[in-house]
Amino acid sequence: MRLIPRDASIVVLTGAGISRESGLATFRDADGIWAKVRIEDVATPEAFARDPARVHAFYNARRRQITDPHVQPNAAHHAVARLSHDWPGGVTVVTQNVDDLHDRAGTANLIHMHGELAKARCRLCGAVMPWREDLSVETPCPSCGQAGGMRPHVVWFGEMPLAMEQIGAALDRCGLFVSIGTSGAVYPAAGFVAEVRGRARTVELNLEPSEGSHLFDEAIHGRATEVVPAFVARLMG
Ligand code: APR
Repeated sequence: MRLIPRDASIVVLTGAGISRESGLATFRDADGIWAKVRIEDVATPEAFARDPARVHAFYNARRRQITDPHVQPNAAHHAVARLSHDWPGGVTVVTQNVDDLHDRAGTANLIHMHGELAKARCRLCGAVMPWREDLSVETPCPSCGQAGGMRPHVVWFGEMPLAMEQIGAALDRCGLFVSIGTSGAVYPAAGFVAEVRGRARTVELNLEPSEGSHLFDEAIHGRATEVVPAFVARLMG
């Protein structure tokens, strides 16, 4: 039996777990980022106001990781990209990840709801631009020329995630919601399953049951590089 009709649209939500096997750390696992640094020291607007150099250093290190030639999209990113191009009903891929692995896998219709490490933003003029280098408090904005306003184009705790209207519209019309590699600890993304539940089929693909695992119609637990390609193959039938 088909999981959903081929003309029904799909929303795929991804989190740090999909990039783990590409060599990037998750946040809340035992070896995760939040076991080593405190959120309130590096990932809030208050932290940036208090100690911008520290916040820049944290994101500079993470930005350097995604330019490491060993960090490449894995089989799960490629399977999601394939689905995004081939599913007749259309797919919206919403990622909480600030890495660029979905982009590099060639994913269509991708939304970075928590921003992107590979972009910088000027707080003074609002310009958003591709960025590969380290940032510092002295970095001048290429657009307005002023220094002191450049920040990573990432969403910090206490800030509004990006493209929420577009995401809401995709959730409203989807027939299938698939959550991949996310612990379900951070809202609003953690609330998407409850939003669509009852009118769309919901599937979780994660290494272990997430906090909201019981809200899904189906949960498949295993490594992303194994369970995601298998699930996409089953969907495409
Ligand atoms: N395959 C599949 N899932 C995995 C794998 C893997 N190889 N490795 C780990 N996981 C799972 C973990 O079991 C965990 O449930 O991925 C999930 C990662 O959860 P978090 O570390 O909490 O990451 P995420 O859900 O993306 O965090 C959400 O929190 O700090 C913020 O802004 C940050 O976007 C991030 C948000």
